[in-house]
Amino acid sequence: MKFHILTLFPEMIQSGLSESVIGRARENGSIVVETVNIRDFSLEKHRKVDDYPYGGGAGLLMQAQPVYDAWKSVREAAKKALRTVYMTPQGKPFCQSMAGELAKEEELIFLCGHYEGIDDRVLEEIVTDYVSIGDYVLTGGELAAMVMVDAIARLVPGVLHNEASAETESFHRYLLEYPQYSRPEIWHGKSVPEVLLRGDHKKTAEWRREKSLALTRERRPDLYERYLEQEALIAALTPGKRRNIHMMESLARGRGEILFTQGENALLYDGSCDLYLCSAREEACGRKMPALMNGAERALVSQKELADMLREALGFGRVREYKQACYTRKTPLRVRYKDIRPLSGEERLHAEKLQEGSGDCPEADMKTDALYGAYENDRLIGYGGWYADGSLGCLFVEKEFRGKGIGASLEAFCINRQLEAGFVPYGRVPAGNTAAMKLQERLGLYVSAESVWLLDAPDTARNK
Ligand code: ADE
Repeated sequence: MKFHILTLFPEMIQSGLSESVIGRARENGSIVVETVNIRDFSLEKHRKVDDYPYGGGAGLLMQAQPVYDAWKSVREAAKKALRTVYMTPQGKPFCQSMAGELAKEEELIFLCGHYEGIDDRVLEEIVTDYVSIGDYVLTGGELAAMVMVDAIARLVPGVLHNEASAETESFHRYLLEYPQYSRPEIWHGKSVPEVLLRGDHKKTAEWRREKSLALTRERRPDLYERYLEQEALIAALTPGKRRNIHMMESLARGRGEILFTQGENALLYDGSCDLYLCSAREEACGRKMPALMNGAERALVSQKELADMLREALGFGRVREYKQACYTRKTPLRVRYKDIRPLSGEERLHAEKLQEGSGDCPEADMKTDALYGAYENDRLIGYGGWYADGSLGCLFVEKEFRGKGIGASLEAFCINRQLEAGFVPYGRVPAGNTAAMKLQERLGLYVSAESVWLLDAPDTARNK
């Protein structure tokens, strides 16, 4: 992943991001941190980049031209649109789920302001995300950008040695970590809790969980409330697990943020793929949802009446019906076809193009998160994976290789990867696609009798 940081103080960034985990990640090429000195783009004789604000007021403002030209140099070299994050105390509060969402980008631009800020006209043209790291005012955006780069980079594959540690936190996103101890066993007369010395993994896990709960309740009652809300929702969704699997997994994997909940009625938002998950068995609950979904691009809805209402209220253009399939066993599946491996970057682009053209993948507009290919003598003959929301799919096999079980092997392979991550694998099958449903059943997935409806292609003029 590549970070471009537009700043007046490149050395501050370069030295702040050169040590420890981030320093090593830069050395091994997992991440690239490139600084662009905004002053290099000044057209003034003395390389001036600031001036007095119109209308008066204290301090100086950074001018539009050098900021714009610095940004343009990065944009033109990238040859594609890049998200541009402006660090400001007026922005959206930075949090772990935003870090996860941004970690999915290949390149990001950060813009650091100084003095009293930046001429608003250039911000209007280039900024896609206004982000704050907390309710306090720093002297500039550099420290804030470094905080974000650090939190995002540790989620990039290859940055942490122990990849599991980046994953596990997301399972407990509303709970603080339990206390930890290292040698010596007794220090200043204080012993390490006895349970941790016994080597009993189950008891250790129980102790850690209790400590996490107690610590969160005491130090972060706000988080604890959200934790309880999530637990209550999971309990309410559990009896209808097969039809609610997408919501349950969204919560369990630390993706879905609860926007509304009352019993089994819930509205979740998954920022990593801009997807709303909506379920209202009671009409009154459903009626509260449109107001919480302003600007929604895509929604997965569990009831037909709710889907119709949301379509009308928010102007979605397309409605597609699916059945949900989930694999509730814990045992990995046998993968018959052996040569399956992750797609290279180039193959991914090729696969995405194929999908768009083939019509085989009706959700082609939802980004994929992972894609694995099946190869015959190094030729890519099929692929499968999961979408940005974590649901299995994107299955494609070249015509001449169909009917040989390659699709089943690809899906089984993906199911096994998800089991390893501690997930309950699930996916969606277009209603009426009996071949796809049969494949799910053959692999041991349960196909839900109830449907879900995917709404997208909003009429953006209306849906604001
Ligand atoms: N620039 C100054 N203060 C900031 C803050 N709290 N967050 C992000 N950028 C900033």
